[in-house]
Amino acid sequence: MHLLDLRSRPLANLRLSVTDRCNLRCSYCMPEESYQWLPKQDILTFEEIDRLVDAFTSLGVDRVRLTGGEPLLRQNLPVLIGLLAKKTALGDVALTTNGVLLADLAQPLAQAGLRRITVSLDTLRPGTFHALTKRDDHARVLAGIQAAARWLPRDLKLDSVIIKGVNDDELCDLLDFANEYGAEVRFIEYMDVGGATAWSAERVVSLQTILDTLAARFGTPQVVATPGNATAQRFRLPDGRTFGVIASTTQPFCDACDRSRLTADGMWYMCLYARGGLDLRGPLRAGLSTLELAQHIAATWRRRDKRGAMERLGIADRGPMLDRPALAQDPHLEMHTRGG
Ligand code: GTP
Ligand code: 5AD
Ligand code: SF4
Repeated sequence: MHLLDLRSRPLANLRLSVTDRCNLRCSYCMPEESYQWLPKQDILTFEEIDRLVDAFTSLGVDRVRLTGGEPLLRQNLPVLIGLLAKKTALGDVALTTNGVLLADLAQPLAQAGLRRITVSLDTLRPGTFHALTKRDDHARVLAGIQAAARWLPRDLKLDSVIIKGVNDDELCDLLDFANEYGAEVRFIEYMDVGGATAWSAERVVSLQTILDTLAARFGTPQVVATPGNATAQRFRLPDGRTFGVIASTTQPFCDACDRSRLTADGMWYMCLYARGGLDLRGPLRAGLSTLELAQHIAATWRRRDKRGAMERLGIADRGPMLDRPALAQDPHLEMHTRGG
């Protein structure tokens, strides 16, 4: 039985950020070259993460997804995967990566017990990749996807944030590419989350536009039924191929949101857009038992009311949610700290 928040949403899905560092500088997430990083001594050890996950699973969490920053930058990550894969309470251990380091890590991660992986791929053009990420790692990402298709083929997904004038002319090519690797592409609407200081409403490519574009080339997509708590709406083309669209900006799914986020330094956030979170590192290091930690978590989840993306929907003249000074004051507001 899951623990419910004020809107009857279950505590079921935990996104676990294992580092705030990233080796790319995507314009929609980390547009600056340099950031204020979380202090090293604050970063949870694998043993500490393991303890906190036990507290979460005791309350009904049955899905964990590792995120970053870029999770593959965390040393010895397969060791953590091994600890999580052993937990019978977890039906799902997944990971979201930018793919740069995946060519060498796909096999060890799979052997450690990782069940499925999502790789971010916004473009098939090396020049656009450089313009988006300020790095020249496009070929490494493609090699990473190839390795993922070999070692982690089950439920392989490619995530593409679509931005007008940057990669919105690549929808069909990205779909074709994903299909060649047996992967499902998911087009993500550009979100005005923390860190996205260059966001503007004009640059969002909506679900409707994405569907119209694909329909013009491949024929009308049909809706595929999806669970209410899924980020992506799924569609099937007349040729049988499927794809997803994550419409967090124009059609938020907050009413069914069962996810929360633990940062690499043990702050727990109940919404991507939340200003504040619950410090779990302090109580953990002060010696609280797993049961006491779970009580802390449960009391906080029961009071959860937030529907961040839906609240943003009601704002006229919408611009970036936060500016640089606000983000500099509290790096926990950054998407790369909270897990993309
Ligand atoms: P599954 O476990 O397969 O459902 O994957 P997922 O979609 O939960 O994870 P993934 O990391 O692939 O997320 C894809 C994208 O969905 C993210 O990069 C965000 O753009 C968006 N997203 C993920 N979590 C949230 C969330 O909690 N709220 C909102 N509004 N968007 C989210
Ligand atoms: N809008 C949409 N998705 C974003 N991500 C990060 N920033 C944004 C944003 N502004 C997601 C992307 C990326 C992952 C790391 O986080 O899916 O691939
Ligand atoms: Fe969940 Fe907040 Fe994202 Fe809405 S904005 S789906 S409540 S995390």
